[in-house]
Amino acid sequence: MRLMYCFVVFCVFGISASKYIQFQKDYEYWYKYNSNSTIHDLGNFRTVAEISFTTINVTEEVQEILLKVNSFFVVSEAHKEQGAGSAHLDFTNWFSFEIKLSGEILSVFHDTDEHHDVLIAKKGFASLFSSKLQNSNSEVASEWAYQTTEHGNEGHHNASYAVIKTATGIQFKKIRHSTPIPNAKGVHQKVLHFDHDLGTIKRVVVEEEFTSPQIAPDFDSEKGMRKVKAVNDFSTMENPTIKATNKGELQFWKKEKIKEKSYRPKDDIVIDSIHIGNYQRKEHNAQKLDKLKGTIKSNLICIRTEPEKGLYEHITIAITEMVVYL
Ligand SMILES: *[C@@H]1O[C@H](CO)[C@@H](O)[C@H](O)[C@H]1NC(C)=O
Ligand SMILES: *[C@@H]1O[C@H](CO)[C@@H](O)[C@H](O)[C@H]1NC(C)=O
Ligand SMILES: *[C@@H]1O[C@H](CO)[C@@H](O)[C@H](O)[C@H]1NC(C)=O
Repeated sequence: MRLMYCFVVFCVFGISASKYIQFQKDYEYWYKYNSNSTIHDLGNFRTVAEISFTTINVTEEVQEILLKVNSFFVVSEAHKEQGAGSAHLDFTNWFSFEIKLSGEILSVFHDTDEHHDVLIAKKGFASLFSSKLQNSNSEVASEWAYQTTEHGNEGHHNASYAVIKTATGIQFKKIRHSTPIPNAKGVHQKVLHFDHDLGTIKRVVVEEEFTSPQIAPDFDSEKGMRKVKAVNDFSTMENPTIKATNKGELQFWKKEKIKEKSYRPKDDIVIDSIHIGNYQRKEHNAQKLDKLKGTIKSNLICIRTEPEKGLYEHITIAITEMVVYL
């Protein structure tokens, strides 16, 4: 009898659905994002963006959320002028995603012809919320912990969560167990702050460290590089490693009543996953590389004399992927 009772109680708490990511209908939630990234040998980069989330369709467990990017800048500390960002890229196309109240992202809807860099940035912003936020089995617990297996934009991975109740809400700290790139070393941690008054996540802090593998079976650091002997230290290394750190923060800013409802366009929209996919291997064609060069050239004057293709590509990957790892 007692066993039965325990079982029932456990089940009841066990299945009580968590509701941590929830945007009230008819409101647009604005957030500011800023991050500081350091890429070894290249310098410091600051990313600053203003983004908003609006629920456009809601069922019992899942909401479809429209993401808008109002501004997006990447600034190199060494060359203060604002570089790649909203001046070069068009962020106005449709992007929405389906997310469970517990943080799992199910699918993404975007324009068929969306620019690859824009898509990566938008997936990165959406995935800041990507998580598996679980309740405690006990209502009175002030701390709890659990393990998960996840399939986010950063690929299949295991993670641990440590959760504590705070004065204003609940803090979820997620640590992933493996790095997204085989043989790479790294630390990837994300802290999501749920706020009782706001009713959703108010702040997300991401911290990452990344060292690319020196030698890895499918990591060819020379790939696509010019067959010209380069002049300075950077390229005299046989297998350059990329060391990078990133600290990013998404902070709630304001909530506004919407003036007009948004509807997902019927045509020219693809259903996609939050997964970034084969970004590294996908586009080795000249046109793509030219575009990449154009986008980051102004920031990366220091490497202009360097081998062109491989390096540019790696750098862009490093910057964009750091935003989207967790
Ligand atoms: C809202 O979501 C439900 C469930 O996914 C779907 O059946 C319905 O068509 C959606 N409504 C709109 C307006 O997109
Ligand atoms: C996750 O953990 C399980 C059990 O420890 C293990 O079998 C699995 O390979 C891990 N998955 C990943 C992607 O690391
Ligand atoms: C990045 O650096 C700026 C300037 O030092 C600072 O104001 C900001 O809080 C930093 N952002 C993060 C996420 O650490």
